Amino acid sequence: MDVYRTIVTKRDTRDYEERTIADDVLRRILQAGRMAGSSKNEQPITAIVVRDGEQKAALADCGDFTAHLPTSPLVVVIVRTEGSRPFDAGRTAQNMMVAAHSWGIASCPVGIQHDDRAREVLGLPADQIVAMAVTFGYPTGGRPQARGESRMPVDSYAHWERWGQREP
Ligand SMILES: Cc1cc2nc3c(=O)[nH]c(=O)nc-3n(C[C@H](O)[C@H](O)[C@H](O)COP(=O)(O)O)c2cc1C
Repeated sequence: MDVYRTIVTKRDTRDYEERTIADDVLRRILQAGRMAGSSKNEQPITAIVVRDGEQKAALADCGDFTAHLPTSPLVVVIVRTEGSRPFDAGRTAQNMMVAAHSWGIASCPVGIQHDDRAREVLGLPADQIVAMAVTFGYPTGGRPQARGESRMPVDSYAHWERWGQREP
């Protein structure tokens, strides 16, 4: 798949096969995240790999829309240093998800709303914040399952020169 096709066919998928993600593939997912640029190259983002069943269940209790998290073979929690820009975490997560998709691995970002609980489960130091959890796995049926939700048309998405001005 070329890069453009990988990006535009990526769908957030929550049903995975039990199949484990091999360690070398996991390392490449981490590498894809690590290589995301950050403001002033401050590198405020780190990742916690969660594969243990009890740890996944505990993490699922830290978010409100986490039903699929315990059955995901791999969860990567994106952590950011206090004071860093959320944009850095977004770049990291998307790098990981797009790279994984190019290898046939589906994924889904998962919000962690209960920060205090997550902090305890993950043993985070005071200056570290959970930005997002991301689940990964080989999709059941062999391909990502879109929920059928579309995106806004590009003519609504893009403003030209100023807000509200449409393509000339
Ligand atoms: C910031 C953010 C938080 C999200 N949180 C959750 C979540 O907690 N649980 C979940 O199942 N999906 C979550 N999603 C996935 C969205 O539901 C998904 O991106 C959206 O429905 C588009 O899905 P599609 O790419 O399959 O069309 C989240 C996505 C983003 C960007």
